[in-house]
Amino acid sequence: MAPALSLLLAAPFVLCLSALLPISIAVAHDILPLRSSLTVEAFQTDMLQSLDGTFSCGFYGVYTNAFTFSIWYSKAANNTVVWSANRDHPVHAKRSSLTLQTDGNMVLKDYDGTVVWQAGGNFREVEYAQLLNTGNLILKDTSGKTVWQSFDSPTDTFLPTQHITASTKLVPTIQSGVPGNYIFRFSDLSVLSLIYVIPEVSDIYWPDPDQTLYQDNRNQYNNTRLGMLDSNGSFGSSDFADGQPLVASDAGPGIKRRLTLDPDGNLRLYSLNESDGSWMVSMVAMSQPCNVHGVCGPNGICHYSPKPACSCAPGYVMSNPGNWTEGCRAIVNITCDHQEPMKFVKLPQTDFWGSDQRHILAVSFHACRNTCMSDCTCKGFQYQEGTGSCYPKAGLFSGRTYPSNDVRTIYLKLPARVNVSNTTPRSDVFDSAPPHLDCNQMSHILPILEVHNNGVEESKWLYFYGFIVAIFVVEVFFIAFAWFFVLRREFKPSEIWAAEEGYKVMTSHFRRYSYRELVKATTDFEVELGRGSSGVVYKGVLEDERPVALKKLEHISRGKEEFQAELSVIARIYHMNLVRIWGFCSEGSHRLLVCEYVENGSLASILFSGKNNILLDWKQRFNIALGVAKGLAYLHHECLEWVIHCDVKPENILLDQNFEPKITDFGLAKLLNRGGSSENMSHVRGTAGYIAPEWISGLPITSKVDVYSYGVVLLELLSGRRVSELTVGSDAEVRSMLRKLVTMLANKLEGNDQSWIDGFVDCKLSGQFSYLQARTLVKLVVSCLEEDRRKRPTMESIVLTLLSFDEANK
Ligand SMILES: *[C@@H]1O[C@H](CO)[C@@H](O)[C@H](O)[C@H]1NC(C)=O
Ligand SMILES: *[C@@H]1O[C@H](CO)[C@@H](O)[C@H](O)[C@H]1NC(C)=O
Ligand SMILES: *[C@@H]1O[C@H](CO)[C@@H](O)[C@H](O)[C@H]1NC(C)=O
Ligand SMILES: *[C@@H]1O[C@H](CO)[C@@H](O)[C@H](O)[C@H]1NC(C)=O
Ligand SMILES: *[C@@H]1O[C@H](CO)[C@@H](O)[C@H](O)[C@H]1NC(C)=O
Ligand SMILES: *[C@@H]1O[C@H](CO)[C@@H](O)[C@H](O)[C@H]1NC(C)=O
Ligand SMILES: *[C@@H]1O[C@H](CO)[C@@H](O)[C@H](O)[C@H]1NC(C)=O
Repeated sequence: MAPALSLLLAAPFVLCLSALLPISIAVAHDILPLRSSLTVEAFQTDMLQSLDGTFSCGFYGVYTNAFTFSIWYSKAANNTVVWSANRDHPVHAKRSSLTLQTDGNMVLKDYDGTVVWQAGGNFREVEYAQLLNTGNLILKDTSGKTVWQSFDSPTDTFLPTQHITASTKLVPTIQSGVPGNYIFRFSDLSVLSLIYVIPEVSDIYWPDPDQTLYQDNRNQYNNTRLGMLDSNGSFGSSDFADGQPLVASDAGPGIKRRLTLDPDGNLRLYSLNESDGSWMVSMVAMSQPCNVHGVCGPNGICHYSPKPACSCAPGYVMSNPGNWTEGCRAIVNITCDHQEPMKFVKLPQTDFWGSDQRHILAVSFHACRNTCMSDCTCKGFQYQEGTGSCYPKAGLFSGRTYPSNDVRTIYLKLPARVNVSNTTPRSDVFDSAPPHLDCNQMSHILPILEVHNNGVEESKWLYFYGFIVAIFVVEVFFIAFAWFFVLRREFKPSEIWAAEEGYKVMTSHFRRYSYRELVKATTDFEVELGRGSSGVVYKGVLEDERPVALKKLEHISRGKEEFQAELSVIARIYHMNLVRIWGFCSEGSHRLLVCEYVENGSLASILFSGKNNILLDWKQRFNIALGVAKGLAYLHHECLEWVIHCDVKPENILLDQNFEPKITDFGLAKLLNRGGSSENMSHVRGTAGYIAPEWISGLPITSKVDVYSYGVVLLELLSGRRVSELTVGSDAEVRSMLRKLVTMLANKLEGNDQSWIDGFVDCKLSGQFSYLQARTLVKLVVSCLEEDRRKRPTMESIVLTLLSFDEANK
């Protein structure tokens, strides 16, 4: 017995050893010994490679005949550079070299022997340089101590496990034509920030400066100043409230990632697809490009029209046509001799961030106007009706327009002789949007739509001329944005639809279907699958034999808007826990959505009615809880933070053949701007029993309403019973009953005796469930159903909690 056992134990060891052997031959490649060099002529072979082959380090051609000494992801297409020694000073393609000298310095020399860069200082006993599997290039001394590491001087990228400290920062790698005046670092308040820096101004645009740090979920009192992206795609920092990290959409081990400050001022987390070497964005700091400061340069205004685009303020023209870096310059300069008569041009729903000469409280419009008029350095002022807040501006930076009825209005001071048409709020500069000004990089999974400017009165479209040519579906959101917040005031609904009719769908994945095709697919709407809040759902089979669910929107007057809301949202959505939408039909009065057919119907029918005698076991229930949380987290946080479902309930959770949940019915989803007016939501109603208290109290609707509804769904999954059956009565009574239940659960969770869980979990499971998981779910129910929405967790953190208790994961 004993020898057999020791043999067994030794076996893996032997295996390990033999596995190590071939690697030990490769070891030479990750180490640069003392007194050796890498030369630029041999850049294709003369390089270090980390043991696992992930990273390479050596000379990297930035353009013809110019090289940087860099570290890059070897498996990424185009070898994505993550660090460079001499980013701003490339060396020549001949006779340049990097040497680890006997004095311990690692020195990069140009063709003529000038030292362009060096690592170190007074290192005595340096033995070798090594490129680690993490992408860190280190210098080690004879005692094995690391005396220098590239991780201490990042360029535009942080790698997993690299520390973000008080002294590290990211600056984007400038590409021609793109403003690059951005920094990512800890601010003076110890808050991890994105900062726009030009000689005239320096201001933080992430976290959102329109909110308090508390609202942004940040602390300003933690001087630790330490952040890190871990190997699972979770990005934490000492200033994040409650230590809550930001989490990649594909959170989990084994994926290669990088956190990069891109030239457009946005911070993105990328994940590598190793099969084709492409990068996918799995997290983004700014979901709305215009909120990045300075994207349009000085005197420029960023607006969604519908694609994010720049234009100059009236009275200004582009400084450098084709290049927004320098923004716009005045057509006629304001002089200080008080000779020239001046006028003010009103720009509604527009603001220029910062540069306020001062803030005058509660004054009349005329007082504010006179303040600016009498000061020749004043370029204009912002005035808020109602509060009477007055902000005279010394400069016009980071201009942007705001959606809907924002109170911010700018009055630009211009010489009276400058000809600006009052009916044209923007200047006629409609150059293409700056490169990279995309909501996200998700276009690779999205089809392309083409929009034509037909059938719409020309003059009204004049502002939008330059860009309604060809746009991506990604921007359908922005179209909807414009429709909802800008055009709605100007066009009658029929005209909006005239514009919508201009859509042509180019790819086969998301496309427009003719009504005839759909009549055929459903054999004249024969099989009804169910009724959603905005219409009946039919089963059909497309010509390519794909089974589909067709949602026929019935109430046309309102259905149109819902349809638009759905279209704008769904075109961007692709997640395994969300029902896939294949296309739509819009013909005459017909509005239909063509959706993925999900085999097992709704969670409601299975959980409450025991459809087909299916009993969901514990594992399936837990998996449903997790899947729904993932789907909602995707909706809330992934560059789609304004997508709120608003009607999370078991009827809207479908189960596929493996009982994997898929959320459906985005009919009530609305695009909300930050701190959005609840007025937009007035006709939107959730379902009694699932709606959060703030619906009733009239507080702004945030993604936390979905968290509340999710809590109710969890409760139902656990107990197998409808919450609305708790008591007969109005919605208010159901809610107060829920409150009592939640208080009771909270108390019980704190007690010593936990046997109550047995009685609480659905008796149909006959006690077959995981105690630990059930308790976790109950805890989540209690926190999701908090009256105060700020105390409810985010869907992201719920996913994390569930993942940590998911047995399938262990
Ligand atoms: C845009 O302007 C910047 C700054 O003047 C300059 O460095 C860059 O080369 C210009 N880009 C193009 C495409 O002209
Ligand atoms: C990453 O996730 C795995 C399992 O999901 C876990 O075992 C590991 O501890 C996590 N790593 C970190 C750094 O959190
Ligand atoms: C500050 O942040 C560190 C790291 O996240 C954490 O360990 C520490 O508890 C925090 N301190 C306070 C006072 O919140
Ligand atoms: C990776 O790329 C391949 C080929 O383009 C694709 O089929 C696959 O779906 C991608 N994987 C992910 C996770 O995106
Ligand atoms: C690699 O670079 C080429 C040209 O710059 C570009 O067209 C291609 O899309 C890039 N590939 C990836 C995967 O980024
Ligand atoms: C306005 O002032 C700037 C800077 O003083 C100067 O470069 C520019 O030529 C002036 N423009 C006009 C039209 O006078
Ligand atoms: C202002 O511009 C409009 C149109 O460009 C033109 O018709 C009008 O004559 C101009 N007015 C002056 C005073 O130049």
